[in-house]
Amino acid sequence: MEKAVLLHLICGVLAVLGVYVVKADDPYRYYTWTVTYGTLSPLGVPQQVILINGQFPGPRLDVVTNDNIILNLINKLDQPFLLTWNGIKQRKNSWQDGVLGTNCPIPPNSNYTYKFQTKDQIGSYTYFPSTQLHRAAGGYGGLNIYERPRIPIPFPNPDGDFTLLIGDWYKSNHKALQQSLDSGKSLPFPEGVLINGQATTTFNGDQGKTYMFRISNVGLSTSINFRIQGHSLKLVEVEGSHTLQNTYDSLDVHVGQSVAVLVTLNQPPKDYYIVASTRFTRRVLNATAVLHYSNSHTPVSGPLPAGPTFEIHWSVKQARTYRWNLTASAARPNPQGSFHYGKITPTKTIVLANSASLINGKQRYAVNGVSYINPDTPLKLADHFQIPGVFSENSIQNLPSGGPASISSSVMPASLHDFVEIVFQNDERTIQSWHLDGYDFWVVGYGFGKWTPQSRSRYNLVDALTRHTAQVYPNSWTTILVALDNQGMWNLRSAIWERQYLGQQFYLRVWNPVHSLANEYDIPSNVLLCGKAVGKHP
Ligand SMILES: *[C@@H]1O[C@H](CO)[C@@H](O)[C@H](O)[C@H]1NC(C)=O
Ligand SMILES: *[C@@H]1O[C@H](CO)[C@@H](O)[C@H](O)[C@H]1NC(C)=O
Ligand SMILES: *[C@@H]1O[C@H](CO)[C@@H](O)[C@H](O)[C@H]1NC(C)=O
Repeated sequence: MEKAVLLHLICGVLAVLGVYVVKADDPYRYYTWTVTYGTLSPLGVPQQVILINGQFPGPRLDVVTNDNIILNLINKLDQPFLLTWNGIKQRKNSWQDGVLGTNCPIPPNSNYTYKFQTKDQIGSYTYFPSTQLHRAAGGYGGLNIYERPRIPIPFPNPDGDFTLLIGDWYKSNHKALQQSLDSGKSLPFPEGVLINGQATTTFNGDQGKTYMFRISNVGLSTSINFRIQGHSLKLVEVEGSHTLQNTYDSLDVHVGQSVAVLVTLNQPPKDYYIVASTRFTRRVLNATAVLHYSNSHTPVSGPLPAGPTFEIHWSVKQARTYRWNLTASAARPNPQGSFHYGKITPTKTIVLANSASLINGKQRYAVNGVSYINPDTPLKLADHFQIPGVFSENSIQNLPSGGPASISSSVMPASLHDFVEIVFQNDERTIQSWHLDGYDFWVVGYGFGKWTPQSRSRYNLVDALTRHTAQVYPNSWTTILVALDNQGMWNLRSAIWERQYLGQQFYLRVWNPVHSLANEYDIPSNVLLCGKAVGKHP
């Protein structure tokens, strides 16, 4: 046997043992979730919604760092279905990411058991359907990862913990909305905003106590501003980063993002408005909920607290105040700031420009001139089984190109352990929200106009926070730095669902030619096969 092969084998065996030993320490949590249609009236008229175990929003997943999640998802819809775990890094495990580039969708009346670990994460996340336009019908929920015992978090344990899933909403059926997109039209303006699937929800607390509000934007397209009448919001966590604890009157939360704030009930006993209103929209939609003091006998009153509506500079300024607390611990005992990201020279720069255009007379969206379509065979399976003709690695370039947009199942190659600078260049007049699966990244700069290499002088290379979804303001750029330390096939997409659905996404294939279980887990034994992967043996 050749030395290299032997070494490789030993490494593989060690990796398996290593994984096993680590996993054996960490608890397993088992779930069975059944997805069905139901009828609810979130905006006052009955409509079809997607329920998980009879609930909308779906059940809240409350887990602890490093827990192993074994979740059997049973699809009782009339269409194939997948859930994705927004912000769960799926270390070495893009097999479980639950998007169409990594997984075959679960056929109707069938099931798939997801197996993943919430490795080295603490914070507020969500899950939602990644298939078709199911997200417009619900199927989403909160996913909170709590710290392990003996891992200190940089704030006292709150007296209570609320999860708020906020999003724009349509009364139309998801199939009708999807049909409209398929026929080449954009979605209309949303008809309302829901907080936890309802037009009115009440959150109860005791005067003098402090509560955590975990706020996620689970909507399809609209940024929101969040505020509570008479109360200030102390920001403590953004998608797994512990922040400098600044206080704000209101916070912008863009599509796909999550923040956690502490709110002290330090006002006279009465009920207060909680407001979420749409941002950067000509017409402003407001959703309200109620913060009820347990000793209150006075219902909510007065005008809704005002918030920003179209002000872009306001939002940019606020975004720049979000900072990492460098001395706070994270999921592991070492402080967040012990990784000096600003001292690393990126191995490459990728500039990604979004665009909207008609292709064959239909509305499409593109990244660097390429509008993504899902192949019948998930990219990850085509890669694993070496099935040709599903994707090519030179379909999308590192820099924007002129010329008309084309359609492709675009995959960008990257080497494991590259450290990349990604500039999101938005030359359109609408706000963008970009999400990367499998990672969090440092958001080092927001700027107006065109990015140039000189723009780097304004980066925050000291205490930018890490997150999984970054907004890009109209006619502006946002730069992120990413340590590509997680092998796999990872979706980089617009979190704005119409754009995602109509092509503003692609996959980053983070790869190392040495096959090793230390870099990536093996294909799951229960993998679903579809397209050209049917009949292959995992
Ligand atoms: C479907 O559920 C059964 C248990 O009811 C499980 O044994 C099986 O592995 C699941 N199928 C997949 C593809 O995960
Ligand atoms: C940062 O975290 C440390 C350690 O938990 C904490 O003592 C400190 O108050 C935090 N600083 C700010 C500004 O939030
Ligand atoms: C909704 O919120 C916006 C922004 O604060 C405000 O301008 C508008 O008056 C509010 N609408 C209602 C009905 O209160």
